[in-house]
Amino acid sequence: MRIMTKVFQHADLSDRNSFHVKQYAARLVEFETTEELRAVFADGVPERWTVLAGGNNMLFTRDYDGLLITPVSQKIEILGEQGDEVRVRAEAGVEWDDLVAWAVERELWGIENLSLIPGKAGAAPVQNIGAYGREAKDVIRRVEMYCPHSDTMLTLDAAHCEFGYRESVFKHALKGRAVITAIEIGLSRTPQPHLGYGDVEREVEARGGATLRNIRDAVIAIRRAKLPDTAELGNAGSFFKNPVVDRSVAEQLQARWPEMPLYPAAEAGKAKLAAGWLIDKAGMKGHRDGRVGVHERQALVLVNLGGATGGEVIALARKVQAAVRDKFGVEIDTEVNIL
Ligand code: EPU
Repeated sequence: MRIMTKVFQHADLSDRNSFHVKQYAARLVEFETTEELRAVFADGVPERWTVLAGGNNMLFTRDYDGLLITPVSQKIEILGEQGDEVRVRAEAGVEWDDLVAWAVERELWGIENLSLIPGKAGAAPVQNIGAYGREAKDVIRRVEMYCPHSDTMLTLDAAHCEFGYRESVFKHALKGRAVITAIEIGLSRTPQPHLGYGDVEREVEARGGATLRNIRDAVIAIRRAKLPDTAELGNAGSFFKNPVVDRSVAEQLQARWPEMPLYPAAEAGKAKLAAGWLIDKAGMKGHRDGRVGVHERQALVLVNLGGATGGEVIALARKVQAAVRDKFGVEIDTEVNIL
């Protein structure tokens, strides 16, 4: 068997994280097959290691003194069909949006609302990526992973993934214990448009109605209008999560700010607020501190204006959190992983 892993010592991470901060990793290994992945751990599990997929949800604040593992596998295949469901398997290194484009080309419904989300397919279950009323958990059926401590391949059914809003078992019990190698998703040949969120319906109608292509194009247009392109302006999408608070707290806030957006939360007695709105109303939208800033068109996004360090981004994040706390008494947590 040929082992083709690419190993990088003192790896420059500038182009491997969407914030484009210049930090180094002691060692970085790209793997394609599970055999290659196993070989990486053949001499034991290093003390410090983690997976770096697209680096779209990570902020490096210092050099990483350990091993980073990057999936580069690219295969997408149809496993079979049962009833209305078409089961598709994508390897971890597939770009998420390439998977969405692949599905839309084949007239398969289910992930079109998740168009243009940056990142790899293998990372999608970790934070249960979501946009425009849909989440990865709506389609993920199984997750394949390698567990280096036991040197085993395991497949987890969705029911055991503990999916929640930007949450999963991979951020908790399985953190540091598993490398996702592939996902299986269930798509449908029957049209199932979900247009209820924000401007989606209007943008879809403007394009002539709810075809897969039009929904994908509408979502791409909405995202491009609000979210900065990481190639031009380093960022990690939403830097903060939308806070989930007690309903009573949400109602008090809404009594004072009737225009405040409010969303239902999965937990009873709770409601989800829009962190972007809170940051905006706290006066921080477009705020700049040297080489970092709060994006002008979407206050949830922090941007590297050029040459910023992770530490500078964190300092701005703390300031944003304090501004929201002072004005609304609400804590907003980071969505991005800070390393
Ligand atoms: N808003 C403002 N000012 C802002 C930003 C937002 O007033 O600067 C208001 C909007 O007008 C709207 C509400 O806040 O009433 C919500 O804004 P939006 O619909 O843009 O969505 P979001 O809650 O800010 C979430 C996700 C995004 C996802 C969008 C669309 C999180 C943390 N973020 O943002 O995900 O694309 O919904 O579904 O849940 C990401 O995770 O990286 C990401 C971009």
